[in-house]
Amino acid sequence: MNISLDLGELQLNKRFFIGKVLPALDGSRLGSVIDIGCGSGIYVELCRQIQEAVHPGVPMRCYHGIDQQELRPLEERYPFFRGHQLQLCRDSLPELPEVETVLCCEVIYYLPCWEQVVDYMLQHATVQVAFDLMYFLDHRREPVVAPLTYCKGSEHLTYLIRSLGEFERAIDRLLTKHPAARVAHRAEWPISPVAMQNWTGIADLQVTNGWLVIRKD
Ligand SMILES: C[S@@+](CC[C@H](N)C(=O)[O-])C[C@H]1O[C@@H](n2cnc3c(N)ncnc32)[C@H](O)[C@@H]1O
Repeated sequence: MNISLDLGELQLNKRFFIGKVLPALDGSRLGSVIDIGCGSGIYVELCRQIQEAVHPGVPMRCYHGIDQQELRPLEERYPFFRGHQLQLCRDSLPELPEVETVLCCEVIYYLPCWEQVVDYMLQHATVQVAFDLMYFLDHRREPVVAPLTYCKGSEHLTYLIRSLGEFERAIDRLLTKHPAARVAHRAEWPISPVAMQNWTGIADLQVTNGWLVIRKD
């Protein structure tokens, strides 16, 4: 599939998504999407291009983007895009119809209410969910709250990094509430301590970025 995104030099994680996560998603079921923490909309463009390649001439039905940042530019650019500007963990999540695919990319590890967000994703996806976590592989490590001043705006985001085991137990609990859902794919890459130090200011933080694809079909 020919995808042409201007990823720039910072977007290693997007390349990882395209190479290692996207193949586990059903590209024919990206015509209706909820994207939690959609940011400036790279995944909107990615889904639009995949939809165009898989179903030529059939436009996206809907793409709901949820984020605390201004989403009007995405609404102006994409006729199928609906923005829901709110602060996750403070405001209620919007009442939206079910969609085929729910994405939450590079956001969950900023959210103390991440379990509610995963629950919401599992409720709203009819086909598939993809999201990523950041964790210590060593279960003996204490969770770290690492301050990070988010580089794109004035808001202050904070990494919440827990052990993989802690995340897995919580995800298992959530999956029991949604019996049709199962983990279909995992992909992980170790983030270098130097990169983590650049982002958080904390030395020696060896963490892994792990993606999960959960399917309901
Ligand atoms: C690292 S960016 C990822 C953006 C996009 N998903 C991507 O991968 O390009 C994190 C996004 O999460 C949003 N975000 C973080 N915490 C949030 C919160 N509490 N409520 C709403 N949005 C939040 C930020 O505004 C930002 O757009």
